[in-house]
Amino acid sequence: MREITTVGVIGLGTMGAGIVEVFARGGLDVVGVETTQEYADRGRAILQASTDRAVARGRLDEAGQAEILGRVTISTDLGDLAGADLVVEAVPEIMALKHEVFAKLDDIVAEDAVLASNTSSLSITQIAAPTRHPGRVVGLHFFNPAPVLKLVEVITTLRSEPAVVEAVVAVSERLGKKPVVVGDRAGFVANYLLFGYFTSALRMLEHGHVSREDLDTAMRVGAGLPMGPCTLMDLVGLDVCHHIGDVIYSHTRSSMHAPSPMLGRMVTSGLLGRKSGRGFYTYARPGGGQVVEDAQTPVPLEAPTLRTVGVVGAGEVAEELASRLEEGGYAVVHVPDAEDSAELARLAPAGLVIEAQELDTDVDDLADLEDGVELPGRDVDDLFAELGEITGPQTVLATVNAAAAVALGAISGRPERCVVLRVHAPTGNGQVVEIGRTSVTDEAALAMLRDVVTRLGAEPVVCRDRAGLVVDALLVPHLNDAVRMLDEGYASVSDIDTALQHGLGYPTGPFAMIDAIGADEVLAVCEELASGSSGLPRDAVEASPLLVEHVLLDRPFTGA
Ligand code: 3HC
Repeated sequence: MREITTVGVIGLGTMGAGIVEVFARGGLDVVGVETTQEYADRGRAILQASTDRAVARGRLDEAGQAEILGRVTISTDLGDLAGADLVVEAVPEIMALKHEVFAKLDDIVAEDAVLASNTSSLSITQIAAPTRHPGRVVGLHFFNPAPVLKLVEVITTLRSEPAVVEAVVAVSERLGKKPVVVGDRAGFVANYLLFGYFTSALRMLEHGHVSREDLDTAMRVGAGLPMGPCTLMDLVGLDVCHHIGDVIYSHTRSSMHAPSPMLGRMVTSGLLGRKSGRGFYTYARPGGGQVVEDAQTPVPLEAPTLRTVGVVGAGEVAEELASRLEEGGYAVVHVPDAEDSAELARLAPAGLVIEAQELDTDVDDLADLEDGVELPGRDVDDLFAELGEITGPQTVLATVNAAAAVALGAISGRPERCVVLRVHAPTGNGQVVEIGRTSVTDEAALAMLRDVVTRLGAEPVVCRDRAGLVVDALLVPHLNDAVRMLDEGYASVSDIDTALQHGLGYPTGPFAMIDAIGADEVLAVCEELASGSSGLPRDAVEASPLLVEHVLLDRPFTGA
């Protein structure tokens, strides 16, 4: 196999220009080819801007930048690729165009040069089939921004020669990338998993379950991902998302991948994300990432004054809530014993009462309880009936236990002022408290709850009170989908973890996340989503048999 020292890149859009930068930074000579001088100039400008940014941030000195740019030749003539050892194609996702480019390359490059496609959605097998030497064709899929994200998926076909795959892996590693070698399947590893999650997020948005801002906060802060789905789809491009989503759906025909009508309408209307200046958000200028206000930007309601907050329940959650509320400047009435009516009467002046008992309703423990032995804590329904009588009509009643806000509203006679709260563990990006509302929840009460959560040092997410709210309803099926992919034998634990950590910037891969959360907890949420009213399609929430196996065997996915 010839050594790879000169690389050709065809197509200098966002991805192509990023790929040029990656190779040039890695010390290779690069020839970038575009169809017209205008596109060639645009490609050079992307490269210049990206390296300027690195210089401005002190990551690169000017001499280093000059060296990188000096390794790059930009051309409008494919013939300039004659000396390339590896050519990466990054032209638009149209099969006929790919075939045209690869047919021309067959006549231009040496017989032992490697040909790669950066396609994110088309079949490498189909791209390779009509070429003169299909054995030298592989997929080499980069992630946006290519200079930052370390993953490259190396996609092989049944004809790919092992030496070609080895050479591509070796050059990727030389560039400091993390290659993952997988077979040819719609979406490969990262996009396949990403788009299952995107489709569910789009469905929530389209159903008015949550706002775009709260959806993004839920996943960035609550799940610890680098960006929320709306911000990320705007970065990737909504047309690209639409196309990849369609390809994956045509492969799986699963309702969890069914295309979003809303996304289709946005693309048809020219709302393509950052590149067109408008997508889920509106941007200061096309191509930029600075979000500006638009008609959907929430106008914050003035929160009603709240002085006294009641907390009911003993244990860690209640105590932590009470002390954080005190730190937030509220007068706190803490009633540890929910059975004690005389103590509960002290809650009369509270504008907000939070039920935070540690209800141990774990199935195993329940099985251990002998007949007639009562569960620890007081039944939430029963407690809310009493709270409805003790407190005034304006008092907001909340529970951190998984009870339905609508039922509690009916029981307490306060349907407009009953919510469920889900306090998430902090992630590297902060902490989220989800506020589950019903269709009749009072907007002023929600404004007050947002204010309380903010004063607790967390970020509020308001959503419909449906099974799993937003964070669990999106994150857990995404993790379960990764287990399914493993079960299907498409990729290994380490490949999948590498793909999501280094291709999508996740703090850890999905299997490391499952092991941190506990497979049993992930399974319990899947079951809750499947049996409850999550609004997600059944095939999105059905637990993978392999997940069940790991729970029964009490075996982690990662480590020894
Ligand atoms: N080009 C070059 N460098 C960039 C860049 C760009 N477009 N955007 C950010 N960077 C660099 C910055 O210079 C900075 O580098 P430094 O630490 O050395 O100074 C670093 O990345 C972090 O940038 P910021 O501080 O500006 O911003 P963040 O910390 O928020 O990171 C992000 C931005 C890297 C984009 C991060 O939010 C992230 O990883 N998001 C997830 C992106 C993702 O999932 N991409 C994959 C999409 S799917 C895909 O591409 C496949 C395709 O087929 C659809």
